[in-house]
Amino acid sequence: MEEKIYSIDPATEELARKAANEGIETLWDRKKAMKTPCGFGEQGLCCRICAMGPCRISPTKDKGAQKGICGATADVIIARNLARMIAGGTATHSDHGRDIAHVLHMAKRDGNYKITDEKKLLNLAKEWEVEIENRDIYDIAHEVAEIALKEFGKPFGTLRFLERAPEQRKSVWEKNDIRTGAIDKEIATIMHSTHIGCAADAKDLIHKGMRTSLADGWGGSMIGTEFSDILFGMPVPRETEANLGVLEEDQVNIIVHGHEPSLSEMMVLAAEDPELLQLVEEVGAKGINLSGMCCTSNEVAMRHGVKIAGNLNQQELAVFTGAVEAIIVDVQCIFPALAPLTKCYHTKFITTSPKAKITGATHMEFEEGKALQSAKEIVREAILNFKNRDAKKVFIPKAKSPAVVGYSVEAIKKQLDKVVNSQIDEGGTLKPLADCITSGVIRGAAGVVGCNNPKVKHDYGHVELMKELIKNDVIVVTTGCAAQAAAKAGLMSKEARKLAGKGLAKVCELVDIPPVLHMGSCVDISRILVLVSELAKLLKVDISDLPVVGAAPEWMSEKAIAIGTYVVTSGIDTWLGVVPPVTGSDLVVDILTNKAKDIVGAKFHVEPDPHKAAQQMIERIEEKRETLGLAA
Ligand code: SF4
Ligand code: FE2
Repeated sequence: MEEKIYSIDPATEELARKAANEGIETLWDRKKAMKTPCGFGEQGLCCRICAMGPCRISPTKDKGAQKGICGATADVIIARNLARMIAGGTATHSDHGRDIAHVLHMAKRDGNYKITDEKKLLNLAKEWEVEIENRDIYDIAHEVAEIALKEFGKPFGTLRFLERAPEQRKSVWEKNDIRTGAIDKEIATIMHSTHIGCAADAKDLIHKGMRTSLADGWGGSMIGTEFSDILFGMPVPRETEANLGVLEEDQVNIIVHGHEPSLSEMMVLAAEDPELLQLVEEVGAKGINLSGMCCTSNEVAMRHGVKIAGNLNQQELAVFTGAVEAIIVDVQCIFPALAPLTKCYHTKFITTSPKAKITGATHMEFEEGKALQSAKEIVREAILNFKNRDAKKVFIPKAKSPAVVGYSVEAIKKQLDKVVNSQIDEGGTLKPLADCITSGVIRGAAGVVGCNNPKVKHDYGHVELMKELIKNDVIVVTTGCAAQAAAKAGLMSKEARKLAGKGLAKVCELVDIPPVLHMGSCVDISRILVLVSELAKLLKVDISDLPVVGAAPEWMSEKAIAIGTYVVTSGIDTWLGVVPPVTGSDLVVDILTNKAKDIVGAKFHVEPDPHKAAQQMIERIEEKRETLGLAA
């Protein structure tokens, strides 16, 4: 069989080759045009924080410049850059969370945005000590939203959601001064500390990065997840399909791409509008086929079963099918390359967020105050564009896979109830999962998350790692583009049990789950934090004691750096498949991959080979089992 060059995913490989043959530029061409990456940048050895520079430090220890003009060493420059990446990622996820909190604040009974999950709202209100007796549910929602919005700038105190962690973890944070304060303050402090002539101690800068990263996972991201569930409904298992083969030749294909569900939820509603469906008939199409890309796709797949068109590296290929009437984007992970590319096809590239305007795109601002109307206008544009499709250019690959998605923590508990003996145990807890882990039927759990990166063959890192883990009875939870890679590879179908080890396969059969659980978008890694916290509390240990590991095999963004850092800071060893730009400093490498363990009980590991990474993760799980005295 011919070797796959771009991707292990057949649809991607087929389209990427076709694009290459036809001279259509994709990310792989631009990667090639970069030639060898800048050696200074790759090791993190350049600084352009001030205009005395840019300065670059020689990678050879005793030759060339060893300090920037201000005297900053390689250690300082690299730690500063890393801290800024963490701040960038935290700002991005948290601003998403803030937007969703604003949406909850504007929700009303007769508005476009309503409360869907009252129970979740009331639970959160109780957690935050908001009065609920004899109050209108919308008044409660508005007060809860206001409290969340204050989490971004409160002058005193630490983040409310940190209280969800087990006591042992909270003391680790307390002891090491990592308990995070207001979200915006932590980000601003990093920007201040990393200004020219401020902090110049690598260890302290990484410490600040750790504290700020918690403002992502236990702050903005968790607000994003909780409030999205309250507004749009808690995800429950539902069937969908994944890969570019979900596009339909005779329908109006609309792809939602980006991150925030406030837009995509309205697109789902608009796509069912009778007047617009009438228009679809008039233009000679058989229907509206809404599908998604990246995290926005995960959001609507988890809540409505909307099909998954693909992950990050497939966004250009979707346009290249010639069958997409509109690609509607909001924020994050949107390639500006879509603007010139869509000009070669009939596809309308529509930006909607004031935070992400892109030259060459059509900007149709999504106004949350009249959300459904905005969404309908966008859908109308797409429908009217159907007539411009050039049948000669249409090429939709066949590949698509069935997948079950939607495993929120609450949904996992519900599945686990299937094996609870109601005479002995009460349902609605993670106890059956804890029991499976302690008895050794399942050896442990792994969170496999993150992006695509052309430094790795597309989806190879995710899929190979996950297959190896489930084969060895490690249950996998996943989010983001990693989750979509798994869905496309069939790892989220019930049949995937065949790929699992004996113990895990049995559990999957009894509980009726696939061995790889789709837990949502990247902000939904906060669900994984809640899951491990509850598990740790059940077993009366710290998160760092659990036989649980994390991995980002194909990471690429600042958001991923923030995630990796908060996962480690929460006590979970994390494997990276792509080397971060820190190798120019032995000190920084030593802190991240060694000393971090003495502070937070976990560290980073870097292993580009997913098979080797899986073995290391399994060994770590077994070590933890032994320390806990769990069944061999
Ligand atoms: Fe150079 Fe220091 Fe300015 Fe960075 S902050 S560019 S190392 S002088
Ligand atoms: Fe994402």
